[in-house]
Amino acid sequence: MSEHEQPISMRFRIYRYDPESGAAPAMQDYVVDDLLPSMMLRDALLRIKAQDETLSFRHSCGEGVCGSDGVNINGRNGLACITPLKDLHQPVEVRPLPGMPVIRDLVVDMSRFFHHYRSVKPWLIVHDPMPEIELAQTPAEREKLDGLYECILCACCTTSCPSFWWNPDRFRGPAALLQAYRFLADNRDQATEERLNDLDGPYRLFRCHTIMNCADVCPKGLNPTAAIHNIKKLMAEQST
Ligand code: SF4
Ligand code: SF4
Ligand code: FES
Repeated sequence: MSEHEQPISMRFRIYRYDPESGAAPAMQDYVVDDLLPSMMLRDALLRIKAQDETLSFRHSCGEGVCGSDGVNINGRNGLACITPLKDLHQPVEVRPLPGMPVIRDLVVDMSRFFHHYRSVKPWLIVHDPMPEIELAQTPAEREKLDGLYECILCACCTTSCPSFWWNPDRFRGPAALLQAYRFLADNRDQATEERLNDLDGPYRLFRCHTIMNCADVCPKGLNPTAAIHNIKKLMAEQST
């Protein structure tokens, strides 16, 4: 916080929905006083929650690590805890991540997202007998995983992907595909063929039309589009 900052009031418009109430979803306006421009959207949501305890949203770490507070902010997905208020035009519209079933207010059902994540077997598969101490990697082999392992599973990418909105049950989505490539790129993994066969077909991988929304919104600066492109390349190599 800068000592020169002046407190400000800000206007927010938040998506509200309580399926138990029987009422239709609606946007609700709030004004929050005494905010500082360097505060994050999560701070403002906590202030709103102090005014109106019925507002529901997820959050935990407060520093872009846990991935739990992905929301749609003025039309763009992002993490509330690392989105500075000074960057937001008002009223700040906050909605749940698009294309996911809403449980309540800003809380979405992540089951489908994690179903796709688990389906790519996001763990090392090694068929050889395991060495006694470790599966060593050279620094160069390890470097190939940079930009792949840092994903915090916030779902900002997958829920901004039109191909996922249209085929949520069949297209794996950018987050799961980034993880698929994370293991395909790992020299210790021995399930390349099995992994590629599992992604073959018209939907799981090939629904990606390189629209790039995913790479634009990733709060960790990752590039699922590039990972998807690399999987397609591996598939092409496998079939020659
Ligand atoms: S590049 Fe592919 S995965 Fe990413 S948003 Fe576009 S269609 Fe979706
Ligand atoms: S790739 Fe980025 S946007 Fe997608 S789930 Fe991982 S951290 Fe979130
Ligand atoms: S609260 Fe953990 S990433 Fe925002």
